[in-house]
Amino acid sequence: FSDFLTDTFNRQHDYLRISLTERCNLRCLYCMPEEGVPLSPPEHLLTTPEIVYLSSLFVSQGVTKIRLTGGEPTVRPDIVPLMQAIGDLRRSGLRELCLTTNGISLHRKLDAMAEAGLTGVNLSLDTLDPFQFQIMTRRKGFEAVMKSVDRILEMNRLGAGIKLKINCVVMRGLNDREILSFVELGRENPIEVRFIEYMPFDGNKWSQGKMFSYREMLDVIRGKYPNLEKVADHRNDTSKTYRVPGFEGRVGFITSMTHNFCGTCNRLRITSDGNLKVCLFGNAEVSLRDIIRRENNSQPIDKEAMRRLKLLESVDAATTRGAREQELLDIIGMAVKRKKA
Ligand code: GTP
Ligand code: 5AD
Ligand code: SF4
Repeated sequence: FSDFLTDTFNRQHDYLRISLTERCNLRCLYCMPEEGVPLSPPEHLLTTPEIVYLSSLFVSQGVTKIRLTGGEPTVRPDIVPLMQAIGDLRRSGLRELCLTTNGISLHRKLDAMAEAGLTGVNLSLDTLDPFQFQIMTRRKGFEAVMKSVDRILEMNRLGAGIKLKINCVVMRGLNDREILSFVELGRENPIEVRFIEYMPFDGNKWSQGKMFSYREMLDVIRGKYPNLEKVADHRNDTSKTYRVPGFEGRVGFITSMTHNFCGTCNRLRITSDGNLKVCLFGNAEVSLRDIIRRENNSQPIDKEAMRRLKLLESVDAATTRGAREQELLDIIGMAVKRKKA
């Protein structure tokens, strides 16, 4: 495993999260204000060839899992060709290609994504009530999201093997009454429902009172399912996993507010404007984009993937091997070494 991706606490960063856009087609109360978030000028965003190039660089250093996130990644028009090109990296050691999405437009693209190598979908869904959906997301679209859920389950019955998790952020007074309905989803469906503690982010009007804790969620669930039992977690999981005996699905908890999981963190992030972030909560970022955009004339990488995208020429201009690659690795290595415990 690459030394560049190993930090001073010996955490090996084999999981890369790439944000494809800041945009979103919903306005979840806990995430975005009604007017949306300030958007970067388009020329600041990574292009598809740049994303593919960086993905291949990280895979060459030992990254085995890539998750595409946002904003809402499916609003990026080139999401499918991008996934195809990243999916090609399975030949170079990529094992998981995952997506975190709100599911609004996912159902239309699922078949092509599965073909491209999609292995997991984390779908954000905080309520099972269409009216409450409109309150929590400030938009309509509940039926479209459920269509995506149904389509994944159907594809899996045919052998697609797309691991489905539902992310449900629990907010007191809004959707805390629905916890048991979400658990019920797992009775007949192989879905992992993960309840997430509401976290403060810039301007999301967080308050302690609205946060519904892991302890409280467990109490609610044990009230109805006293036989809820703990399941062993994977080493780098952010969630604590449980099951109700006899249920197909599982229940997880992401306890960012009450129990942190930094000790086993194996994630790196690339923001949509090309900054590397070694921690969700850290604001030290380094620009990978600025390095790959510097004038150069050497060779592009992974020509085959690029040819599929018919983007070879822009890649020639945007990316290089050799000196530039070494510079990127040095910068990445330095950022990773600065990661705190
Ligand atoms: P998998 O483990 O691959 O299923 O994905 P994930 O849970 O990392 O990704 P997802 O995009 O579904 O994020 C779920 C929740 O975990 C979100 O609420 C994130 O804010 C939170 N989360 C993701 N990464 C981190 C992290 O590094 N630290 C903390 N504290 N929370 C995180
Ligand atoms: N607190 C907890 N989870 C959040 N998410 C977005 N904002 C917050 C917040 N303030 C969740 C979304 C999505 C995941 C990537 O992060 O619901 O599922
Ligand atoms: Fe934020 Fe995701 Fe909701 Fe969009 S769907 S507003 S990115 S939490």
